[in-house]
Amino acid sequence: MIFTVAIDGPAAAGKGTISKAVAARFGFRHLDTGLLYRAVGARTLSGEDPVEAALSLRPEDMDADTLRTTEVAQAASRVAVLSEVRAALTEFQRHFARAEGGAVLDGRDICTVICPDAEVKLYVTASAEVRADRRYRELSDKGHDVTPGGVLEDVLARDARDINRVEAPLKPAPGATIIDTSEMDINAAVDAAAARVQAAL
Ligand code: C5P
Repeated sequence: MIFTVAIDGPAAAGKGTISKAVAARFGFRHLDTGLLYRAVGARTLSGEDPVEAALSLRPEDMDADTLRTTEVAQAASRVAVLSEVRAALTEFQRHFARAEGGAVLDGRDICTVICPDAEVKLYVTASAEVRADRRYRELSDKGHDVTPGGVLEDVLARDARDINRVEAPLKPAPGATIIDTSEMDINAAVDAAAARVQAAL
């Protein structure tokens, strides 16, 4: 079976948690495409050219733990405006989406650019305050040195860069189901996403 669940949305809207839970529930593979951009961003922080980094991305660059800092997130959103960086990452994502077995991909341009023909398209969002609050708790629980104001600033700066860029800007794709998680707990959000998948199987 080839079946793609494409999930877009702004930073810290709950896409990651929803994607992982939906993938586990249906036995699908999951790709957090933000990690690709974070890995490229992290390599630019050590002085590399972003396009070179994107073209030579290695599995060992994808260590989720070291990439989950606000500094790397900012670097990711800066390299993500570059069309050559996005082009270098496109084929890998499309191949992942259409390989045998179901796949869940989450990011900013999955429904709009990478997989416009996905069987399920979701746009997961929440207010900036709710998103920043969730991300602050997540990072501080993991022992990161963050402040609520600093995290809100990161979220707002990335939203602005992701929405206003020319190449693959963040927006709901035509036909995408919008799930606003501002007033939902995580179980309700996962159930809403899973119901859409179940209906399309
Ligand atoms: O989802 P995450 O917060 O890890 O993404 C980091 C950054 O990578 C985003 O702010 C965005 O600029 C970029 N990104 C993107 N397209 C994707 C996934 C992430 O431009 N599909």
